Amino acid sequence: MTADDESRPFTPVDRPADGAPREAAFYGRRKGKKLRTAQAAHMAQDLPRLAIGLEDVGAAPLAGLFPHPVREVRLEIGFGGGEHLVAEALRHPDVGYIGAEAFLNGIAKATTSVSEKGLANVRLYGDDVIPLLDRLPAASLARIDLLYPDPWPKRRHWKRRFVQADNIDRIARLLMPGGHFRFATDIEHYAAWTLRQFLADARFDWTAERADDWRLAWAGWPGTRYEAKALREGRRPGYYEFQRR
Ligand SMILES: C[S@@+](CC[C@H](N)C(=O)[O-])C[C@H]1O[C@@H](n2cnc3c(N)ncnc32)[C@H](O)[C@@H]1O
Repeated sequence: MTADDESRPFTPVDRPADGAPREAAFYGRRKGKKLRTAQAAHMAQDLPRLAIGLEDVGAAPLAGLFPHPVREVRLEIGFGGGEHLVAEALRHPDVGYIGAEAFLNGIAKATTSVSEKGLANVRLYGDDVIPLLDRLPAASLARIDLLYPDPWPKRRHWKRRFVQADNIDRIARLLMPGGHFRFATDIEHYAAWTLRQFLADARFDWTAERADDWRLAWAGWPGTRYEAKALREGRRPGYYEFQRR
């Protein structure tokens, strides 16, 4: 079997047990270039240990997903190549990280760097994150990061944006009281769209203290691959953080 064989299971892919239709679809790419040899080797050797499927996240505390005690668990949605996920996990070895990414090549990259760095506090979920969000226990996450989600700039595609009422409900269910949702985008319209929905939502407070807080990246921010591209192309990022009441 080759590394880019379509039939190769790269993580358990489950559907809701009751067969209920999913409320949201995944519109992005599933696969890109053929994996490099080293990435394919890490996928074969290390992903089985790092990957989680829906059956791994029932009612039990999420801390149990990690081999050592963690003080809290955070989720990054759509981590791309995993650069931010890995940097965060290195900075906070006492925090457990779940990274979700539906793009196979992103999972391969993250698997490679998590293994090469010997990180024990990262688990990877390689599919559309929505069923995972519906499966994770309520109030189980201290932070959820959504960094540079696909912008869907055309009006007819706005409904594909990740930030929608149903996903805000999911985020509200999963964050523990006092937990944080981080959102970054370089698309002004998506920023305004997100801000409008969170400001109108009594379950969240915007943590900004000054009018231009949104221009400042978070302390220790490692950036993301997509952000670097946006900056190269002259677009200005915005950083938004909301706290669950
Ligand atoms: C524009 S990229 C940004 C990647 C990364 N966060 C960064 O800033 O470099 C958005 C990523 O979200 C992933 N994504 C979009 N919808 C998703 C979903 N429903 N479940 C899992 N991943 C998703 C895409 O595959 C893509 O890699």
